[in-house]
Amino acid sequence: MENKPLYSVAATFDDVNKLIKAVDKVNEAGYTIYDVHSPYPIHGMPKAMKLKPSKLGFVTLIFGLSGAIFAFLFMYWVNVIDYPLIVGGKPFYQLPAYIPVMFEVTVLSASVFTIVWMLFIMFKFPNLSHPLLDTDYMKKVSVDRYGISIQAKDELFDLVKVKEFLKELGAEEVFEIYFKVDELKDKPKIFDKKFISFLALTTVIVSGITYFILNHLLFMSPFNWMHEQFRVDPQTTTTVFKDNFGMRNPVAGTVARGHLPYPFKGNPADAEKFLVNPLIPTKQVLELGKQKYLTFCSPCHGNFGEGDSRLRGQFPNPPTLHSDKLRNMKDGGIYHIITDGQNVMPSYASQITEEERWAIVHYIRVLQRSLNPKESDLR
Ligand code: HEC
Repeated sequence: MENKPLYSVAATFDDVNKLIKAVDKVNEAGYTIYDVHSPYPIHGMPKAMKLKPSKLGFVTLIFGLSGAIFAFLFMYWVNVIDYPLIVGGKPFYQLPAYIPVMFEVTVLSASVFTIVWMLFIMFKFPNLSHPLLDTDYMKKVSVDRYGISIQAKDELFDLVKVKEFLKELGAEEVFEIYFKVDELKDKPKIFDKKFISFLALTTVIVSGITYFILNHLLFMSPFNWMHEQFRVDPQTTTTVFKDNFGMRNPVAGTVARGHLPYPFKGNPADAEKFLVNPLIPTKQVLELGKQKYLTFCSPCHGNFGEGDSRLRGQFPNPPTLHSDKLRNMKDGGIYHIITDGQNVMPSYASQITEEERWAIVHYIRVLQRSLNPKESDLR
């Protein structure tokens, strides 16, 4: 015999049923370190071989859980400890927002690390050699034969006896399989120089090709964060228009969406004459008017419209809203003053909607009537 260590004794069968029976007998005989090879998966084979369920699921579980916990802790650290930022008034710690990210990281780390584990821990990648590879036995069982290989490290192993035993089971051919000496000597590890240089070379070549394709072939620079756009910034020139102005006036006669120009600008008399309060002074409308009056008008006109401003002389005090002039003014006139302003009082059209303006007018009527009640109010 040559000076090579024995790996296993292997036998081929020409029928799948013979193989299953043989596996039963091998089990009965008490061999435990053996393997079965066939050109296609055979249903029931794991059961016949009395294989325990794979432990790979636990690996996946552990990496999945670690992913979820890592994602949670990372987001908690960023959002609560390192960079607390109020977004839309929400609390810093907000589990529902974390869940999609945690789910993604769970799936990602479970799948990626399961594969890494399989490759590097279970299959011992980058070591690609195996004594069964490139043997006549493997060539046959990859095509149309079924095989069993009982390994030499089994406790009951005895070369002569195992060969006899396999022949008794109806084996077609029996092979002695040896480790290949040169492969035994040279087992690449993860940190093997060759493997690392291979990875480095792959990285350089792939990034070089990507760089060339994206920057030179397709003219597509990755991640320029939209620095370069076709656009005209405010206050800049452009060659698109003859006058070289980048900023344009709206086309004459255009009206902004949802906005009608106020027709009585600078014309209080017509406003008073033609504008009619469209709201009925219901409780709701008065509450709205009160709220808006207290917010926008009371700083100058006082809470009850008596012209007692809270501005301590920083702005001219307005006249009282209880004057005869104002009590006799029609609703449209007051509406006009809110909309267009009057002398030093500015327009409030941009802060207060039309409906709110009319509600304020109603509320001013309430204030006025509280100082000049009708007889019926007192009854
Ligand atoms: C920044 C202070 C200020 C605020 C806020 C303000 N006003 Fe005036 N208001 C004035 C001044 C000052 C006058 C007097 C203007 C003038 O000289 O004609 C005035 C005049 C008026 C007049 C006419 C009074 C008159 O006798 O001619 C009315 C009506 C009026 N305001 C209603 C309102 C209402 C309603 C609001 C809330 C939407 C409001 N104002 C908010 C300062 C203010």
